[in-house]
Amino acid sequence: MSEQKIKVMISKEEVTDKIIQMAEVLNKEYKGKSLHLICILKGSVFFMCELAKYLDVPVTVDFMQVSSYGDGMVSSGMIKVKLELSESLEGKDVLIVEDIIDTGRTLRYLRDKFAEQNPASLKICTLLDKPTNRQQGFIEADYTGFVIEDKFVVGYGLDCAQKYRNLPYIGVIE
Ligand code: PRP
Repeated sequence: MSEQKIKVMISKEEVTDKIIQMAEVLNKEYKGKSLHLICILKGSVFFMCELAKYLDVPVTVDFMQVSSYGDGMVSSGMIKVKLELSESLEGKDVLIVEDIIDTGRTLRYLRDKFAEQNPASLKICTLLDKPTNRQQGFIEADYTGFVIEDKFVVGYGLDCAQKYRNLPYIGVIE
């Protein structure tokens, strides 16, 4: 496959500034508490690591891997669990960290699954929100970095057939 051309949608500086702002909000909201971050692999690992660097409350992390897109560009609608959490969420202040909410199916599934474990609190943080493909009220994030239009985006964890996750900006394949 030949190299695809990628146009910058949100620059590296804009992404970093936004993540610092999000961390400042979280530091205020969770002051005096500990935060248990759940990274939804693979996409959110870059965002979670960057966000965690700017948090000054005590942080623990865990990982869950689900996939609904495979290597395609449209959600299959089927959520496959590939890796489960390693510890219970009971009594913890849990923040689900996502790179993007599109249809909302992944997060709705995860939020309901995690709520069964009786966390002290359960909130959602996403770097990108693409609300076009979502029914209103289906699921909303508590903390959102950027609301974007309906374009297939890559970079900062987001892939196209597993490529481009490492780009330090959000781009669109032209
Ligand atoms: C992406 C993304 C979210 C989900 C959002 O994951 O990281 O988890 O899709 O889409 P939705 O709101 O329509 O459910 P993907 O299934 O592509 O797996 P990946 O993170 O490993 O790339």
